[in-house]
Amino acid sequence: MPTHAADDELLHRALELARQGIGLASPNPYVGAVITDTQGNVVGTGAYTYAGVKHAEILALEAAGAKARGGTLYINLEPHAHQGRTPPCTDALIAAGIHRVVASMPDPNPKVSGRGFEKLRAAGVHVEVGRLEEQARRLNEAFARYIRHGTPLVTLKSAMTLDGKIAPPPPDATKRSDCAVAEGKFSGNWITGEAARAHVHELRHQHDAILAGIRTILADNPLLTDRSGRPRRRPLLRVILDSRLRLPLESRLVETVARDRTNDVLVFCSSATERKKAQLEQLGVRVEILPATGPDSRPDLPAVLRRLGQLEITCLMIEGGATVNGTALAAGVVDKVFLYYAPKILGGAGSIPFAAGAGFGHMSQAAQVRHLHLHRFGEDFAVEGYLRDPYGE
Ligand SMILES: NC(=O)c1ccc[n+]([C@@H]2O[C@H](COP(=O)([O-])OP(=O)(O)OC[C@H]3O[C@@H](n4cnc5c(N)ncnc54)[C@H](OP(=O)(O)O)[C@@H]3O)[C@@H](O)[C@H]2O)c1
Repeated sequence: MPTHAADDELLHRALELARQGIGLASPNPYVGAVITDTQGNVVGTGAYTYAGVKHAEILALEAAGAKARGGTLYINLEPHAHQGRTPPCTDALIAAGIHRVVASMPDPNPKVSGRGFEKLRAAGVHVEVGRLEEQARRLNEAFARYIRHGTPLVTLKSAMTLDGKIAPPPPDATKRSDCAVAEGKFSGNWITGEAARAHVHELRHQHDAILAGIRTILADNPLLTDRSGRPRRRPLLRVILDSRLRLPLESRLVETVARDRTNDVLVFCSSATERKKAQLEQLGVRVEILPATGPDSRPDLPAVLRRLGQLEITCLMIEGGATVNGTALAAGVVDKVFLYYAPKILGGAGSIPFAAGAGFGHMSQAAQVRHLHLHRFGEDFAVEGYLRDPYGE
């Protein structure tokens, strides 16, 4: 009989395999599988990627062949019992003679959750659920949010000084062109160091889309690309909130999409001249008009998220400026934060704060960040935490 420690080690391996799906599995979950024979030797492994079609447990079964009979499957997520893009994995596991299944968590999709385990148990397979559950839940939190609500998991990311400033005061408007020609030109140099900035690309790599406000584009002329160097199935969708379609044709966003024809810049506006819309679309920018809300007639954030859900975006990272950050917090759409801090103090009433707008009037109304994880990047550090449970209602 394998010990709990041995089970955990093999589940860790399954989780590692599942992580190979980052950038590749969305909009489906990350799944890794390990099969051991009757003696506890690893005889097959598999990792799911959307393009590879086959599920992790099927790949592991294929690698194991006849050695799977009487063996154990270690997997981070419940095997599915329904016909999807592939036949039910439970049938294949039963047919192969798998004796025991050790899984970290049930499928978060309420329509199918528990059915895979039921089917396996009904066929006499020993099923154990819940080992390394917390790690498994964190890994598939975006899938959970998306499959239960049809909208992406929203992470608010920002880099700031210790006193909560995301940029120095904006330059004198009379000395500024519509679009800065070089990234960071008007906002001064980078806030955080190289290690933290490299980590931002890891975070971008884990996301399906990134969102910024038009004033950030005008100020910094950013690329907003995933430069982690790792493979991804779909390009990172670069989403811009731009009510009146001010996005400059000569911005780096437009230049790159026009050059590379990646179809990965999507602008949400609330009103636009046909001419500017046509100019942008001709260069490969996607423009969508959404209902406007508020006194400034800006695209409604919940509507933006619903639209992104329709586009199979399971997770969105907001890298907005102060206005977008404030709007997202006020709208209650933020699931988690990833806040990088550099040991610097900018001070000054004119410097740009993390979140603009009215904010929360009382300490009792402040957004509460829970389940904190602290990260260190050289002299910089980051706080990762949750404003709400991705698995909640
Ligand atoms: N340190 C960091 O991590 C970081 C990250 C990003 C930006 N920044 C800095 O932030 C500064 C820009 O911040 P900002 O507050 O001026 O602008 P912002 O948040 O980047 O953009 C705000 C603009 O987006 C447009 N918008 C459209 N729909 C919106 C909606 N539903 N909610 C909110 N905004 C919407 C509005 O312009 P329209 O009404 O014209 O549509 C609004 O003025 C820059 O200096 C930049 O360097 C820092």
